[in-house]
Amino acid sequence: MKFSTFRAAIAISAVLFVGTAFTPTVHAQDKAAMMTKGEKVYKAYCLTCHQANGQGLASVYPPVASSDYIKTKGIKDVILGVLWGRNGKLTVNGKEYNGVMNPIPSNYTDEDVAAAVTYVMNSWGNPGGTTTAAEVKKVRAEGKPKKK
Ligand code: HEC
Repeated sequence: MKFSTFRAAIAISAVLFVGTAFTPTVHAQDKAAMMTKGEKVYKAYCLTCHQANGQGLASVYPPVASSDYIKTKGIKDVILGVLWGRNGKLTVNGKEYNGVMNPIPSNYTDEDVAAAVTYVMNSWGNPGGTTTAAEVKKVRAEGKPKKK
């Protein structure tokens, strides 16, 4: 092999290596682990309001099961809501709510948030999608969004 070819080969391997190391691919077993952890966090925290099957409670707590709000707004909005809380009017599946959801207590880690969000996104007819602790950390670092 000519030296220049050798150098090119090294460069390509380096790119491939870095690419693999930093691509935030969520592998199947990681997702399964996130779902298990997420179910625990959901049951320990979110369930009080959104209930065991995500169906919500009366006109006070909106459903997170088959929520058209989640479907329209997407996973980042779910993360933001958990991190910073929610208030003001919103409509879920044709029903209006106007309550307050507090930010998740600080004893829950970014990993816990990522797991709970992944669990909700992949349960009860929601559209799917995954996130990671690193992504939650990034969203947190962007700061609390201004009220739309
Ligand atoms: C103390 C009660 C409470 C807890 C705990 C709580 N929520 Fe909420 N959640 C609410 C209320 C109330 C609203 C509606 C806020 C509004 O009217 O602006 C809401 C709205 C939402 C919404 C947007 C509307 C919808 O139903 O699609 C999502 C998504 C959501 N919560 C997810 C979660 C997740 C995930 C957790 C756990 C990490 C959680 N919530 C914990 C009370 C709660």
